Amino acid sequence: MRTVTIYDTTLRDGEQMPGISFPKSYKIQIAKQLDKLGVDVIEAGFPAATQGEFEAVREIANLGLNARVSGLARLVNEDIDRTIQADVDMVHIFISTSKIQIEHTVKKSREEIVEMAVEGVEYIKSHGVECMFSAMDATRTEVEYLKTIYKAVEDAGVDIVNVPDTVGIATPFSMYGLISELKKVLEVPVDVHCHNDLGLAVANTYAAVKAGADQVQVTINGIGERAGNASLADVVILIKAVEGLETNIKTEYLVETARLIERLTGIKLPPNTPIVGDNAFSHESGIHAHGVLSEATTFEPGIVTPEMVGHRRKIVVGKHAGRHQIKKLLEDAGYAVSDDVLTKIVDKVKELGDKGKKITDLDVITLAEVLMGEV
Ligand code: KIV
Ligand code: ZN
Repeated sequence: MRTVTIYDTTLRDGEQMPGISFPKSYKIQIAKQLDKLGVDVIEAGFPAATQGEFEAVREIANLGLNARVSGLARLVNEDIDRTIQADVDMVHIFISTSKIQIEHTVKKSREEIVEMAVEGVEYIKSHGVECMFSAMDATRTEVEYLKTIYKAVEDAGVDIVNVPDTVGIATPFSMYGLISELKKVLEVPVDVHCHNDLGLAVANTYAAVKAGADQVQVTINGIGERAGNASLADVVILIKAVEGLETNIKTEYLVETARLIERLTGIKLPPNTPIVGDNAFSHESGIHAHGVLSEATTFEPGIVTPEMVGHRRKIVVGKHAGRHQIKKLLEDAGYAVSDDVLTKIVDKVKELGDKGKKITDLDVITLAEVLMGEV
């Protein structure tokens, strides 16, 4: 069975999300949680960026985690040295390869860029450290040039190449085509890193896996630059439950991990977030609730259950609630109501719902008690 490895970049690209800055203690807490979750590689940060970042990455690298620890470095020896000094298992080097970025930021010839990449890989490998090479803006780079640079770093001994969709411009179709092409010519494992500018980061990552990608880069809750990165929870469920492939993720910790990141970033997930959102397994409509109370898969995908991801199924009372749902709620709370009282409760709940009122379970119980003359 093919296992897709999970490279988590919450502590690097995730931290590049405007408004997020993790103190060292948060970074360590998150790294321990990612390790508990079972990610294969933790990209702990960009050690050359600041002294604090260097110290945080070094401390994470020395925690004795099961996950390997990686650090990001530009293709310059000072960055690479600093990253190696942070005791990482892997150095992740990157350089732009698209026409627009070469012209405006790198300002070198394509041949010089290939030479720099090869030298960087050789330098890292001479220190006995794992190396990943990213052709930044790969999805806007000519495919022939991408093949040339990836083949060159493969010959230089790189361990894995990454294909970043830096500006989130790919579609599942273009990503599938690109990864298929690269897999034909490369022997080293291929990794993908998708941004969510067009809302396709998860779909593009999934397409890459379908085309044979060996590793995926993700973040918890999809945090990251601009519109963010592919969300770990969504990607892992697609790989495991939909595609039937393996990952080393212990999915029962997905919700716990999402909540930790919400708390430490202060960024609350919308309730309708797939897999880990508050409403991912909540049912309000009477028809749905009735169905789910008898057999959960009537109105849930079934291939992913609340238990699998550490969630809870909730039946929520609202104006779409039906008799079955309200009766069950009251029975669970220890109240057996007559048909007549039940009808009155259901009518009242709908009336309040129509007025835009939010109704809680406790409101329903109080209503039952009043109508039964118990208060
Ligand atoms: O989006 C990107 O291209 C990156 C690289 C550093 C891999 O984050
Ligand atoms: Zn990125």
